[in-house]
Amino acid sequence: MGKTVYMPDSTLSRKSHISSMAQYLDMYKSSIDTPEEFWGDIAKQFHWETPASPNKFFSYNFDITKGPIHIKWMEGATTNICYNLLDRNVKSGLGDKIAFYWEGNDPDDYSRLTYRKLLEEVCRFANVLKSKGVTKGDRVAIYMPMILEVIIAILACSRIGAVHTIVFAGFSADSFAERMLDSKCKVVVTTDGVWRGQKLLCLKEICDSALERCKKLGHEVETCIVIEHLPRLSASQNRNGITEENGDISPEKRNAFGSKIPWTEGRDVWWHEEMEDASTSCYPVWVGAEDPLFMLYTSGSTGKPKGVLHTTAGYLLYAASTFKYVFDYRPGDVYWCTADVGWITGHTYVVYGPLANGATSVLFEGTPFHPDNDRYWLIVDKYRVNQFYTAPTALRALMKFGDEPVKKHSLSTLQVLGSVGEPINPEAWHWYYKIIGHEKCSIVDTFWQTETGGHVITPLPGCTPMKPGSATLPFFGVLPVLLDENGKEILGPGEGYLVFRRPWPGIMRTLFANHERFETTYFKKFPGYYCTGDGAHRDEDGYLWVTGRVDDMLNVSGHLLSTAEVESTLSAHPSIAEAAVVSQAHPIKGECLYCFVTPNEDVEFSEKLTDELKRKVREKIGPFATPEVIQHAPGLPKTRSGKIMRRILRKVAQNDRDIGDISTLADEGIIEILFQNRIEIK
Ligand code: WTA
Repeated sequence: MGKTVYMPDSTLSRKSHISSMAQYLDMYKSSIDTPEEFWGDIAKQFHWETPASPNKFFSYNFDITKGPIHIKWMEGATTNICYNLLDRNVKSGLGDKIAFYWEGNDPDDYSRLTYRKLLEEVCRFANVLKSKGVTKGDRVAIYMPMILEVIIAILACSRIGAVHTIVFAGFSADSFAERMLDSKCKVVVTTDGVWRGQKLLCLKEICDSALERCKKLGHEVETCIVIEHLPRLSASQNRNGITEENGDISPEKRNAFGSKIPWTEGRDVWWHEEMEDASTSCYPVWVGAEDPLFMLYTSGSTGKPKGVLHTTAGYLLYAASTFKYVFDYRPGDVYWCTADVGWITGHTYVVYGPLANGATSVLFEGTPFHPDNDRYWLIVDKYRVNQFYTAPTALRALMKFGDEPVKKHSLSTLQVLGSVGEPINPEAWHWYYKIIGHEKCSIVDTFWQTETGGHVITPLPGCTPMKPGSATLPFFGVLPVLLDENGKEILGPGEGYLVFRRPWPGIMRTLFANHERFETTYFKKFPGYYCTGDGAHRDEDGYLWVTGRVDDMLNVSGHLLSTAEVESTLSAHPSIAEAAVVSQAHPIKGECLYCFVTPNEDVEFSEKLTDELKRKVREKIGPFATPEVIQHAPGLPKTRSGKIMRRILRKVAQNDRDIGDISTLADEGIIEILFQNRIEIK
């Protein structure tokens, strides 16, 4: 580990914002020694309706033994993030600049939006939200695909101080309902449907079941605003499409295209009808620096999702500065992040970071495989993309098709290639570097979390020497520490728990309506530190290598899941007595779910049961959580006190007979049976 070092391309270094390690180290030092000055300088480019009180620029407590955890940046300041992203850029002459090129699932569908037009549309939708009674602090749920309206909806919320809570449109109705219930949202914004590759997703239908479920559980969402997206797509996309798929739903409403959409009068309204008469100006609501901007649910190791809450000023500073430096964005560049807005990467690096820098981005609705496996590279050439940001799982899936689909395209405009969501394996790194980047691009392997708001460990283009598989060094203001099991700091090379000693501006402030869980989850194990839940290794050059989760979480195709969540879904099935789930390595997804189930006495384990269980997990959590393997376990290995020994189950999944100490195991006999029933991953 850590032998091969790739130096940044010298042409890139000459023009990059941070062009040498000496410059990085210098800036890093000042960000740590004098954080108020460092971030205060960055804050100067933005508009503050009221400036921050100089003596209260930054305050925090990270030590739970000394009192409640709190983090505050720029206390006393007021601002509006939407104003900073749009009005400020239009005023400085970027009105006609393209904010987004939209590329549809079908290559025949595309459009664009300038900064000026985006501002107008945002104002109109902000007025629509106001007309539905949304005011500062109210939550608005967003369940939408990657279309321009999702950006408009997000920014309209922030313009009036409403808190958006985006739910990834791949989540099932149940997961969506759980999130709407927890956030007590007033309004939901959705879309009739969307094509992903060859598949039509009827989002409004899913949204309807979620709304119904949410109501049953005690929370009624007042308004559902629906975007009519399908009818405006190209004929080729809608060929023999929608009417059939949307079938016989009633009561229904027909959209202009003739397809049927389930409809509840009094609650559901069309976006285009509401927008028609809405004014294109809307005065921004000035909010406090520490007022909430958005919440986003992420998996928790106990199963119940956590509503990670981000606030205004610090998040703006951090999204803006990480975007500028980590992608080395310069005016005139075209940037493309393939992440969905339903994940944190979409929040910070599709919406807030790029717009805060007046950048031009690509927003892509489709998949890397449609209509062909070269779609990403086609788009890179079409828009002359300079910075490209994706996930290792996508790279691995594309590598399978060899180099030919890539070689059809020039990719000559690329300069920075980003990776996010999980450790990038050296094989994928090299493919990215050589085949996509032609050995002249900087690869930025960005480590961060929903909770961190932005990149915390990352190389900088043109600056940091790269090692395939290492996220390298901390971003400005970030103080990473490795701890051993006893909470002792590991200095120099070694491996331990990855924690942070001090907050940077973009870190989460709390879990929505549950500060206690926030403190227990992140600050209890090691008082004085924010605990990431990941392990890491530090090499002799001080480079960090994130090794993966240390809790009961796993990362499937870059999506974080808790094994507890899947276990409770499986064991809720009437034929199942007990279930245990472990993570298993997967060649494309990175990790996948390997499930052990014990059926009830009178139930026979069958293919039908396996299919049913898989379907249940899909329905309950979402398609990305579908188990790879469901193995019959007549019994589970347990300690004498009845705790399931997942360590042993992991060994079974890996077919590793070296299972270590089993002295606490109640019944040894079960192990051989489990090995015999083992299923190989295809
Ligand atoms: C993992 C995604 C290694 C890690 C932005 C983290 C990574 C979790 C990397 C957060 C990386 C993310 N190298 N591991 N470059 N990036 N992770 O909240 O386990 O969806 O804790 O945020 O993904 O996932 P989340």
